[in-house]
Amino acid sequence: MTLESPDENKKISLELGPFQGITDVYFRNCFQETFTGIDRFYTPFFSGIHTANSKNLKTEEIDPECNNIKVLTPQILSNEADEIIRFATQCHLMGYEEINLNMGCPYPQVARKKRGAGLLPFAEHTEQMLNKLTNQLPLSFSIKCRLGYYNKTEIDYLIPLFNSIPLSSLIVHARLGKQMYTGRPDHDKYSEIESLIQSKKVYNGDIFAPEDITILLSKFDGTHTWMLGRGLLADPFLASDIKGMTVSLSSEEKKDIVFHFIQNLYLKRRKARRDNPALIGRMKELWSYLHLSFSESETAWRLIRKSKNFEEYESAVHRIFDEMQWVGHGYQGSLTTAVET
Ligand SMILES: Cc1cc2nc3c(=O)[nH]c(=O)nc-3n(C[C@H](O)[C@H](O)[C@H](O)COP(=O)(O)O)c2cc1C
Repeated sequence: MTLESPDENKKISLELGPFQGITDVYFRNCFQETFTGIDRFYTPFFSGIHTANSKNLKTEEIDPECNNIKVLTPQILSNEADEIIRFATQCHLMGYEEINLNMGCPYPQVARKKRGAGLLPFAEHTEQMLNKLTNQLPLSFSIKCRLGYYNKTEIDYLIPLFNSIPLSSLIVHARLGKQMYTGRPDHDKYSEIESLIQSKKVYNGDIFAPEDITILLSKFDGTHTWMLGRGLLADPFLASDIKGMTVSLSSEEKKDIVFHFIQNLYLKRRKARRDNPALIGRMKELWSYLHLSFSESETAWRLIRKSKNFEEYESAVHRIFDEMQWVGHGYQGSLTTAVET
């Protein structure tokens, strides 16, 4: 299905959410070589930027020479203004035009240190940090947050703070930190805060099929930019499907394109990691979503999951593409297994 009005499509801008361990430089480059529809990519978060010439930023992950991507925004996980300024300055020198602050990571080892979504209950700390950033950043600044860590009222205190600085966009993953990735996003709360946000708004959470965007467009009339996540990892055609660019491809054609993508990614990672078998773990992380878009998804996942070396991995991939059908929009069907918290 595509959106009904072609005018609607034009208004839609799509971003790909960062996934630590999955949407690395190889994924982003291979994706952009093979698929269309994403207008902005983000790096998974960087941290530990302790110096003005940080070795954490001397990697292919952020080197513009290695990132053959139209629009890429580097992300930082931090609760310290000085570290954010150091990161921004180094990104600016590399030619980047924007950085993003992660206020959404829910993992306890991060949140316990008042970082990621763990910063959301601390409006005072956030205010001091944002005040210190004023006039100190040489490039644009955006924030990705959740509605709160424990409670959705946390964002009510943060929005005036976010409005007090020149944000290029506020990306809201409409869940709580304590939900991790379970339960449903809270559309009612997003609707309530949407008109209060003065910067560009980006909605994130459970966009798994073009129909989801149609529903969200009818609910949120001030939002025109949408961040895709697990839905796109399960079906890399999701962005182009939403924009109505892939309707003429048959399922067999789509399967061939996905095969080319996954092989290209695997070979690029093998070359970069000098055949280190640990990269099978990275491929498995992507497959933990991608398998959902195949006709016998459980069998596909079992084959991949149990592979222990390159030979077994390659044979699993060949069996999947030889024996199964590409169905697409896999994450949509997986929702019935989500647990409400
Ligand atoms: C394994 C994993 C790693 C993630 N890494 C990051 C990250 O580095 N930075 C970030 O802002 N979000 C990260 N996210 C969150 C996603 O970008 C996205 O916000 C989330 O999956 C919600 O969108 P969805 O419901 O469309 O999947 C991660 C999520 C998962 C499951």
